[in-house]
Amino acid sequence: MNLKGRHLLAPMDFTVEEMQSLFDEAKKIIEKPEAYGEVLKGNILATLFYEPSTRTRFSFEAAMQRLGGSVIGFSEPGSSSVSKGESIADTIRTVACYADVAVMRHPKEGSAFVASQSSSIPVINAGDGGHHHPTQTLTDLLTILLEKGHFGNITVGLCGDLKFGRTVHSLISALNRYNDVKFTMISPAELRIPDYLREKLIQSGSSFHETTNLKEALPELDVLYMTRVQRERFFNEEDYIRLKDTYILDTNKMKAAKKDMMVLHPLPRVNEIHIDVDADPRALYFKQAKNGMHVRMALLMALLGKGV
Ligand code: NCD
Repeated sequence: MNLKGRHLLAPMDFTVEEMQSLFDEAKKIIEKPEAYGEVLKGNILATLFYEPSTRTRFSFEAAMQRLGGSVIGFSEPGSSSVSKGESIADTIRTVACYADVAVMRHPKEGSAFVASQSSSIPVINAGDGGHHHPTQTLTDLLTILLEKGHFGNITVGLCGDLKFGRTVHSLISALNRYNDVKFTMISPAELRIPDYLREKLIQSGSSFHETTNLKEALPELDVLYMTRVQRERFFNEEDYIRLKDTYILDTNKMKAAKKDMMVLHPLPRVNEIHIDVDADPRALYFKQAKNGMHVRMALLMALLGKGV
């Protein structure tokens, strides 16, 4: 398995086996973090965030620092030459002069791909508009693996904004490669999964159904993946306000769920999971956020060709 020098733009860029190698490494990191303190000493990560972020940016920065490397970058484009009109291509060519790997989040679909075309260093897509977010998928899959021990033979419910939610698009694409994964898509009619994704599921003969009713779908699920309605991708505020509180998972609804159903959420949460659910042992979203750092450590090591 050699991921050295590769870009990660969409979850399908890595094979199932390559992903598994990252999960194996992440598990080793969780067991023995002290062994990894100097693995990336002397390496520099550039974080190029044209859109807000808490978990993705911080977990990448923490991952690099815990591996002994260091970080440069911007958390909003106004503080870089982007505000003077510099193109993505020129920015990444410049960044590649200083850093060994770059992670980029941008509101436009395809922007990480554009960057990768002009980059001599690996580019990691940390979210490109409503398209993909592959490292969130690594986080989600590692969390499922740690809890369930496997990906096959599970029913996964995805609830909320399935139209604009890039984490949903990436997770469905990745999970669809494992055997016997059944999908239940729970969303308002206006926020259903994009047509291209539905086509892909149909073509691959996957088992999925779409519903608007969370309560009815809940008892069958092994994993419930909640998402916030993506306000920044709406064309008008009224639609957002009308749709934002369609689904609210609370302790009462949780009574109908399986005893070992995992509740995941890429975060940030707005109203879609009541804070009372946090005390339920099935609520794993903060654990998931922590797993994100460990799997990103494994990813940075792999892209830079460094092992323990
Ligand atoms: C997600 C994103 O940016 O797409 N956040 C994250 O990276 N954990 C989800 C979201 O913003 O709703």
